[in-house]
Amino acid sequence: MNRGLCALLGSLAVAALAAGCRDRPRPGAAATASPSASAAPPPRWAPSERDAALSAGRAVLERHECTRCHKIDDLKEAARPLACTSCHVFLTGLRPGDRQYKSIADKYGEGVMKRYQRNIQHLVGSPDLSMIARRVRPSFLASFLAEPFDLRPTLEESMFRHALSPADVRAVVRYFAAKADAPDPETTPDEPPPPADPAKVAAGKALFLSRGCAACHTYGNLATGVTADALKKAGLAAALAPNLRFTRERTRLDVLVPWIVDPQRVAPGTLMPALGLSPDDAGAISQFLLHGDPELLPAAEPVEPAAPKVLAEHVGWETVKEQVLGKVCVHCHMNDYEKDPGPGNKGGLGYPGSGLSMRTYEALVAGVPAEGGKRVSVLQPRPGEALPRVLSAMLDRRREEPRDHVPAFADRPRPHYPKTLGMPLGLPSMNDREVSLVATWIAQGCPGPKAVTGMPGVDDGYLVPDGPIKKNQGCEARAPEAKRPSWAVDAAKP
Ligand code: HEC
Ligand code: HEC
Ligand code: HEC
Ligand code: HEC
Repeated sequence: MNRGLCALLGSLAVAALAAGCRDRPRPGAAATASPSASAAPPPRWAPSERDAALSAGRAVLERHECTRCHKIDDLKEAARPLACTSCHVFLTGLRPGDRQYKSIADKYGEGVMKRYQRNIQHLVGSPDLSMIARRVRPSFLASFLAEPFDLRPTLEESMFRHALSPADVRAVVRYFAAKADAPDPETTPDEPPPPADPAKVAAGKALFLSRGCAACHTYGNLATGVTADALKKAGLAAALAPNLRFTRERTRLDVLVPWIVDPQRVAPGTLMPALGLSPDDAGAISQFLLHGDPELLPAAEPVEPAAPKVLAEHVGWETVKEQVLGKVCVHCHMNDYEKDPGPGNKGGLGYPGSGLSMRTYEALVAGVPAEGGKRVSVLQPRPGEALPRVLSAMLDRRREEPRDHVPAFADRPRPHYPKTLGMPLGLPSMNDREVSLVATWIAQGCPGPKAVTGMPGVDDGYLVPDGPIKKNQGCEARAPEAKRPSWAVDAAKP
């Protein structure tokens, strides 16, 4: 168990978990018991209907590449070059003694390996969607997928704004429902929560605060004695713990109490530990979760981000690449020839892609394909638009944040998404300085690299070199050099 989490549990005096801090609990170790196998109720889904729902939903999950981040039942994991979460987990988990650490360090230099491990902050864990409808209401999955929102306050990245059509969403929800033999939300009305019992709500609140739940969970803005910062330091179990003020819409009533008593029996391997609660105490907590007051802040006014500032300093391509575009954006806007050219370039995650590569200066100034076979710049405003797309896309992400990035203890009602799609997709927005760097670079005429930058001969992606191309000033779209100079040809092996 993570040290931050152990410290929190210690401060909350949760004896039941202290053992876990000494002996690392093995995820999945409790996967033996099959709950209530003897008294199984008759299946809700007719076999033929179930099979049809499973295969239709599977096709959509595969087409939209949901397994690039999520584990989903027996669906095939995405291949390593495509699997956002598993590749990040793999790389950050390697230790200097490991064979694979050594082979990467030998190939690119240990400095590169260390940089990878330092830089990878996001997508190091995403919710496991296997049998999700066993505990999450299909009706919640339907509304969440119709318009996702920030459900886990400590997790900075979010379920990205996907390209699922309403029919796709329906197919996915029916897949999850059929898989877990949960009610089909289209034919079965949701069971209403049991009426509130004020004494139990109060007792449940006290138990919620005293039995360790707050080491990982928030409940709206209820003061728990734990800070947002401490939750961040508590690691993955806290990052993946949902804000429990959504319990009423989200969690199936029939599993709420069994879940609180022994989550491993409902979802073997879940990061939530059993906290030694009796069914009575769990019942009181469930009353609080269903009927408590989440103490929300008032709804936020729509965010209108300020126009990016032009800084009084020289900003070269190297800075923009190192600190902004190459740090975050490039991971979905790769070069054409790479194993994954990126969802934002050649398409992926259900998106067709916009043909935008930010790997090198040359690729960025080549812009994006437009009507009539032409290419247009993303570094100059298009007719009728105030800002170049590369800037407006970053500001659009800010506009999504009131729905999509609601930090712990700053909970409020979620507004709808604005129409525009913000960048970086599903990740925290770029800060003022980062946006200003790009704005300043553009205001200075998009100066290009003056010398070959990056490590020659190395094409680990990030280090693909930039060279001094013939015309290395100006923000208008222009094609890459027709004849590739030797520095580019030598380095950029497919
Ligand atoms: C790039 C990574 C990524 C991909 C790809 C992805 N998701 Fe997610 N998804 C997330 C993250 C991160 C969360 C957690 C968001 C939160 O709770 O705030 C999430 C949450 C969810 C949830 C909420 C589960 C709950 O706990 O209630 C569902 C359902 C979901 N995703 C379905 C999908 C489907 C369907 C697809 C394919 C169209 C998909 N995801 C693809 C990252 C991803
Ligand atoms: C083959 C392994 C691999 C795959 C697959 C992969 N990444 Fe990464 N990712 C990396 C490495 C390595 C870095 C660090 C690069 C550096 O520092 O030069 C990184 C860094 C990042 C960063 C910046 C650091 C951070 O955590 O915020 C983002 C954002 C990112 N990746 C997003 C994605 C997304 C989205 C996907 C899936 C569409 C993805 N990655 C797939 C290896 C991978
Ligand atoms: C060590 C961190 C941790 C602690 C402590 C913890 N939880 Fe959780 N809890 C989680 C995680 C992680 C999930 C998400 C489950 C998953 O996706 O596997 C979760 C999920 C839940 C859910 C929703 C189940 C679902 O996914 O629909 C409820 C309800 C819940 N927890 C209640 C509690 C209560 C009540 C307590 C205190 C008695 C508690 N939790 C303590 C980590 C924790
Ligand atoms: C997680 C993946 C991801 C990340 C990270 C990402 N993008 Fe994108 N981007 C996409 C996808 C997908 C599209 C294409 C959407 C479509 O097909 O309509 C896109 C499209 C764009 C476009 C639209 C181009 C046009 O056609 O006008 C711009 C501009 C853009 N991205 C800028 C950025 C910037 C700037 C960043 C970093 C701050 C970034 N992107 C990071 C996935 C990503």
